[in-house]
Amino acid sequence: MNGAIPVIAIDGPSASGKGTVAALVARELGFHYLDSGAIYRVAAHAAARAGVALDDEAALASLARALDLRFDGIEVYLDGQPVGDAIRTEDAGRAASRIAALPDVRAALLDLQRDFRRPPGLVTDGRDMGSVVFPDARVKVFLTASAEERAKRRYKQLIEKGFDANLAALFQDLTERDARDAARASAPLKQAADALLLDTTGLSIDQAVFFVIDAYRAAA
Ligand code: DC
Repeated sequence: MNGAIPVIAIDGPSASGKGTVAALVARELGFHYLDSGAIYRVAAHAAARAGVALDDEAALASLARALDLRFDGIEVYLDGQPVGDAIRTEDAGRAASRIAALPDVRAALLDLQRDFRRPPGLVTDGRDMGSVVFPDARVKVFLTASAEERAKRRYKQLIEKGFDANLAALFQDLTERDARDAARASAPLKQAADALLLDTTGLSIDQAVFFVIDAYRAAA
């Protein structure tokens, strides 16, 4: 039974910093890390490559079921090839959010995500890690920040990677994506009743990491 393997589930809106925090918590505890958003991004990328329309639920679900995906550090491999930053653009995020609204696609990706639960433990981030994928997670955190703060963080991230970025466009994009992720019927973005709320507006990354580790130790 893998129920004994602890999971720390960190959910929240786009660019809230949950990925950075989750990866650092995993490193600190020596746990595995799963960026579930990358799975949706890679699935959308694979669909574009195969010429599958982003609203063809049946074709997308069968593509998702057969997804040959592997993580190595922060690099993601699709069919054995690194996808690099192609899945990190705003377009890729928008495409991921579109296919993520389709229930058959979400169902097709469940086992793939659950396979990452391995000893000694898993830290994972996404939208439904605590509510659907790992409902028995030891600690659930809903990590958020104001939309302005999140747009600024995403702007900084994109510029650092050498991408073009426009703050106003990013703000609009983030709020639209969050609205779609929150409004969908299947596993919407929403704070679970048993999740701890962490608003990182004005907090440092270290403070957020400390909060999660503290919550884990208190729950262990
Ligand atoms: O966390 P992210 O920005 O990389 O996620 C990209 C999109 O994937 C996001 O807009 C919604 C979707 N997603 C999801 O529906 N469920 C998850 N667990 C993770 C991501």
